[in-house]
Amino acid sequence: MEKTKLILDCDPGHDDAVAILLAARHPKLDLLGITVVAGNQTLENTQQNARKVLQWVGEDLPVYAGCPGPLVRQKLIAADIHGSTGLDGPVFPPLTKELEAEHAVHFIIHTLLDSDGEITVVTTGPMTNLALAIRLEPRIVEKIHRIVLMGGSYTNGNVTPAAEFNILADAEAAHICFTCGRPITMVGLDVTRKVLCYPEIVERMKRIGNPASELFAALMAHFCRTQKEIFGWEGGPLHDPVTVASLIDPQLLTLKPMNVQIDLRSTQSYGRTNCDYFGYLQLPPTADVAVDIDVEHFWDIIEEGLRLYSEDKP
Ligand code: RIB
Ligand code: CA
Repeated sequence: MEKTKLILDCDPGHDDAVAILLAARHPKLDLLGITVVAGNQTLENTQQNARKVLQWVGEDLPVYAGCPGPLVRQKLIAADIHGSTGLDGPVFPPLTKELEAEHAVHFIIHTLLDSDGEITVVTTGPMTNLALAIRLEPRIVEKIHRIVLMGGSYTNGNVTPAAEFNILADAEAAHICFTCGRPITMVGLDVTRKVLCYPEIVERMKRIGNPASELFAALMAHFCRTQKEIFGWEGGPLHDPVTVASLIDPQLLTLKPMNVQIDLRSTQSYGRTNCDYFGYLQLPPTADVAVDIDVEHFWDIIEEGLRLYSEDKP
């Protein structure tokens, strides 16, 4: 079976952490490396968090630190959701897993340049690292098989009425990525808000009884509490793993090609993904936008992914 090669660029973050768990060991995926960006927390925290997650489950994948802030605007941190460390909740052992010396942007560049164009770039945080890689070395663009991002929405935002966090945090970077000409799958709030991690889901995963499921439960205890405090939901939306799950099963999402433009000019709607759902502008589509998700199947994929940590790695 041909594995899907991917780079995961993230800002752990509780939901990013679950995306890492799902991508690190799945037999359909070949995770080449994890690149980290500032977003949910500072880069110092997010790069440590990525290493903490891998160390918890004994996965020895390389972690590369990238950009400490957006290309143009001021840094935006989501400490209200993810806490002062960015991964509040679990009690992690002292961190011994090393950070790679190479900058994330350089890792992205040479990994793509050395490839035959089969690598998917998954971003689950602000798109700064990928955007800078594209600007620094435009030759990588033709080598990107597809960009699969968690970000945006064709309805409303989650930081402002118009904008979702990952796009708002670096809208200029998102614009560079959305206009690079490569295939894009946009996994926005429209579908990620359908996968709410209710208490019964947490219990279902906890019953697996291995290190990954234990970490999942500890992460969700914090994540779901802050999401309820802020949004009033009984379960936190598990945004980021939807990107990885869509690589494991391409049938998971219902996609609709749309022309998507990032609002860089407005004040009220800065950072909005303007998705032309009805084709008013009669412009060519620029992204495959997720408009629905098989929720039950998503949780089956999460359970399957966590169960992989019950066996010794092949
Ligand atoms: O808006 C949700 C997104 O912003 C998720 O990726 C979350 O981890 C934060 O990065
Ligand atoms: Ca994220």
